[in-house]
Amino acid sequence: MSFPRKRESQEPCNKYMSSFSFNNKTIQVNSNQSLFDLAEGLSIKVPSSCKNQGKCKECLIEIKEGSEFLSPLTINEQHLSSKYRLACQTFIENEGEVKAESLKRSLIKIEDKGISTLSNLKLEPAVFRKENIVFIEDKAIAETTDSLFGLAVDIGTTTVVVRLINLEEGKIKATASFENPQRFAGTNVMARIVYDTEQGKKELKRVFTAHLSNTILSLCDTPKNIFEVIIGGNTTMRDLFFGLNVFTIGQTPYKSLTEFDVEKGQKRTTAIQNTAKKMHLPICPKARIYGLPIIGGHVGADTSACLLAIQLMKENKVIAFMDIGTNTEIIIGNKHKAITASSPSGPAFEGGGIAFGMPALDGAIENVKIFDDGNIIIKTVNDKPPAGICGSGLIDILGELTRTEKINKVGRFIDDIELLYLDNDQHVFINENDINLLSQTKAANVAALQILFKEYGIAFNEIDTFYLAGGFGEHIDIEAGIRIGLLPNIPREKFKKIGNATIEGLTIALLSKTKREALEKFVTNIRQVNLETDPDFFDHFVEGCLFHEII
Ligand code: FES
Repeated sequence: MSFPRKRESQEPCNKYMSSFSFNNKTIQVNSNQSLFDLAEGLSIKVPSSCKNQGKCKECLIEIKEGSEFLSPLTINEQHLSSKYRLACQTFIENEGEVKAESLKRSLIKIEDKGISTLSNLKLEPAVFRKENIVFIEDKAIAETTDSLFGLAVDIGTTTVVVRLINLEEGKIKATASFENPQRFAGTNVMARIVYDTEQGKKELKRVFTAHLSNTILSLCDTPKNIFEVIIGGNTTMRDLFFGLNVFTIGQTPYKSLTEFDVEKGQKRTTAIQNTAKKMHLPICPKARIYGLPIIGGHVGADTSACLLAIQLMKENKVIAFMDIGTNTEIIIGNKHKAITASSPSGPAFEGGGIAFGMPALDGAIENVKIFDDGNIIIKTVNDKPPAGICGSGLIDILGELTRTEKINKVGRFIDDIELLYLDNDQHVFINENDINLLSQTKAANVAALQILFKEYGIAFNEIDTFYLAGGFGEHIDIEAGIRIGLLPNIPREKFKKIGNATIEGLTIALLSKTKREALEKFVTNIRQVNLETDPDFFDHFVEGCLFHEII
């Protein structure tokens, strides 16, 4: 078991002799506080999902000056060069000035569009105008002669995409994206649920609303002419935004409060709405803020938006939909019958827990080719010096290690090595622990796929289309995914990458009342499959850990 790291001596050290500057703010060091705590003293929130135990690696910071004054690298930091430290594990041990900065994250790649769906859409927004009066449904809410706008907001756990849409023209007027500012409370939904529950002051909602308000003001000169906002996001992100208690989403049976309301017959849909005034957004005060319905459990409003984008409600052929992330959502079916499951696969494919894992920022290794003679060629994001490995790079590495038979089926190196350096400077590596973690993440996804196909009574190659959604789905090399057994070995033309289908579905919901209402009805008929209680789950999981094709 790990605990937050404490200095052995409880005596104050270096009283007023050392200083710590973080993001250009400075504090004098007069106590046994980690750099994490010192940053908090500067009112700078450093991300954490592990309660400062050195496990999640989210508190990574860059030391600009004074690394020689710091405590030695801990066991949790062995893979780091002295330029980078885990803030929760590091103390100022010797007298001197230490300067550090947060990792630059502004360059994070954000998928802000997906499958194109608007060209044939019949315009039927819920907001319309009669003479100068603006209505939502049959309710007058404002008066204007200017254009009518709406917003589509995709709240991802990591990134957020906002679209401003002219409701009368059905045209996208502007798009903005930003990293979810709730990151300080951890990178995954369970960490956010714990933070929100323990802190109990709706801080995550307030931080997010402030960020979204600034984005709205920068996106639109006439924000008071925004009359409807459609919200998508996984169940936790959606409910946090609306200020609902999310505790129940983190506990078995993993349900949103809106699901309990439907079960008790108090509501007919898990969709949720409020007014801009009550949500403190700087738009028309009577504007409607509408959260798309969730499908059930962790299969949230982001997935239901995707169903609008792929038009599952009209589909006769059986399709599969998969959005791989910390939680992977899968749907199989057509307009007559559909089933779903969410697999808590963990953050490894996003770099979490991987020695050199990182998001797709500058320097992240995104493509890898291993030659028979052992030579390795890598491609990094924006061709910057290699700093780590992002999700698509991890799949590439596993695919290449499998293809060249440098690992066996259980993920052990064939040669007598424990790790493989990827760059010429021998700085970035992948080791057997990483491969083991990735194989378990893969296995969780594969077990979910196997069980859902079995439940539906269909073989992998019988489906018509296999949709891959989200940023991970967009960048994955399908051949590598098939080779390592993450994706089924079906004809390649059946795979369709649909990017950020959530934002496209939210746009449809904003522009078509009919489609939105059809979605509300359709999702109530999607049956959730409980993976954990399936008697074959364990066998599928064990099988899924192996690096070989699934058919
Ligand atoms: S907070 Fe430092 S590793 Fe998790």
